Amino acid sequence: MERLQKAIANSGYTSRRKAEDLIKAGRVSVNGSIVSELGTKVNYNDVISIDGKIINKEVEKEYYLLNKPRNCICSLNDEKGRKTVTSIIETNTRIYPVGRLDYDTTGLIILTNDGELANILMHPSNNVEKVYVAKIEGILSKDEIAKLVKGISIDGVVCKPKRFRVKRIDEDKNNELVEITIVEGRNHIVKRLFNSLNHEVIKLKRERYAFLDVSDLKSGEYRILSLKEVKRLYNLKSK
Ligand code: URA
Repeated sequence: MERLQKAIANSGYTSRRKAEDLIKAGRVSVNGSIVSELGTKVNYNDVISIDGKIINKEVEKEYYLLNKPRNCICSLNDEKGRKTVTSIIETNTRIYPVGRLDYDTTGLIILTNDGELANILMHPSNNVEKVYVAKIEGILSKDEIAKLVKGISIDGVVCKPKRFRVKRIDEDKNNELVEITIVEGRNHIVKRLFNSLNHEVIKLKRERYAFLDVSDLKSGEYRILSLKEVKRLYNLKSK
């Protein structure tokens, strides 16, 4: 179940804010009845209409895998005029990124107009693994690694990496390359983990998301996910 305004936004019809205005104006109906309550919950079988026109059925689903370049923002548009991930994909469909990578983070991001799949991938109970490679300032001590592996509290919630390994140490430049696998999706989580140990993240790339990677894509390149891959992503839903 999800909120009506979110379901409308996920259908690609309009933004959540505008969907709220449409609901309040009495222009939205669910299964034939006008609904003007913002909190109303709907599921994927409910037929949503706006001004009498069905908006959430028979919309072709699109799925893209992008190797996000640096200096590109994970939102539909940016008031500062910065490049967005959606502007890279050639489509007329209103797609959106599943989760976020920071402006300066590179690597794997999925874009789709399939709200159901996006919810599955982002829901914490489905434990979708994300593998990041980070270049960090300084060299982690044994104690710091032990703390990290045990789990670090960020805003009162512990983030415990699933896996962690040091890939390369550069003593001359006083930095190291590490690989960290986490399941949670809080914003800036990798940077916040290392910052809490007083190490700055100089570079960050998401190399893997569940079973997907971007090793076959150059920075800024994307490809369409196969039906088989989409099915495998759906199967990540915990039973
Ligand atoms: N963690 C971060 O700190 N930044 C990202 O972009 C993704 C995960």
